[in-house]
Amino acid sequence: MAADIRSILKKLETGGDPSLDDIVALLQAPNDTLLFTAADATRERYLGSQVHLRGIIEFSNHCTKNCLYCGLRKDNRRLQRYRMSTDEILAAAKEGAAAGLRTIILQSGEDSFFTGEMLAWLITRIKERHDVAVTMSVGDRTKGDYRLMRKAGADRYLLKQETSAPELISRLRPGTALAGRIKRLRWLKELGFQVGSGCMVGLPGQDVETLADDIMLMRELDVEMAGIGPFIPHPDTPLSNAKGGEVAATLRVLAVTRLVLPHIHLPATTALGSIHSEGREMALRCGANVVMPDITPVQYKKLYEIYPNKICINEEGPAHCVPCISGIIFRSGRSVGTGYGHSAAQSIEEQK
Ligand code: 5AD
Ligand code: SF4
Repeated sequence: MAADIRSILKKLETGGDPSLDDIVALLQAPNDTLLFTAADATRERYLGSQVHLRGIIEFSNHCTKNCLYCGLRKDNRRLQRYRMSTDEILAAAKEGAAAGLRTIILQSGEDSFFTGEMLAWLITRIKERHDVAVTMSVGDRTKGDYRLMRKAGADRYLLKQETSAPELISRLRPGTALAGRIKRLRWLKELGFQVGSGCMVGLPGQDVETLADDIMLMRELDVEMAGIGPFIPHPDTPLSNAKGGEVAATLRVLAVTRLVLPHIHLPATTALGSIHSEGREMALRCGANVVMPDITPVQYKKLYEIYPNKICINEEGPAHCVPCISGIIFRSGRSVGTGYGHSAAQSIEEQK
């Protein structure tokens, strides 16, 4: 078995195409150390030791969708809802930029209150005031809305596939289909966004083949980023009694994704840091090269409760978060990226 794993690793190292069976075999590798060491070496070889920070502003927890796994789902009446004002959003972006962050992520539930025009207006203001890249993460929208955001200067878009199993995703995200998500990911690429997808690990009904399909789909879509974190059951959702994802399994998916998609950006997710106190450090050692500090004003942070026991919700703003996360990075023997942390392809484009 270990011999098989070594030959698959060799094939990937020399730029060969993995089969689905290869990915399944890697995900089931009996020796985590072999896998994690290879993923860490691949990250070093393709992306070096810099870790990029992306400051995330969770500007609205309203959502029209009813995802079975998510605390922001429409039917969760226990959650106190908020929308930040445009002034509050711009002030948070300003604070983030002042703390040295070179990417600002604007994330919300699927909230139609914020029209494409409003989001474009916000992007324009942030880009004209600060030297930052902007990532949008506002869910399923029309192609027209995506175009407005791109024209306003948004650089990247995060839209996770969540799981590549078509029946599972339709059950977990009522009223949606995998095809719709894939269609949007293709639109976003076509519009020139650097595109991020990703999946949760440990969803009920998911198995190792599903996770291999997830990685393969991201390879086919040629994504530039992948957010991979454990599913954490939320008490006020229909999946409250589910088991949830484990640290070891999540790290394995992360490492295999790094091996199969060597050049992409992979965050050490807050979700992983929330189920294990060293979760993000471990992720940085098996392929991750991005951390996303939450720079949402502290009074709103705790209300963006996608899953319970999220870390850092009492941290007061980027002036505190950025040095704290930089410390984690330094202690991991790495350095903090000073540039925008664009995708490899985009960086080459900008040097032309
Ligand atoms: N556990 C972990 N991650 C979750 N997300 C939503 N609900 C949960 C949960 N219970 C993730 C999804 C989504 C992002 C906003 O949060 O991947 O894309
Ligand atoms: Fe809404 Fe996103 Fe949560 Fe689904 S995962 S309920 S779309 S915030």
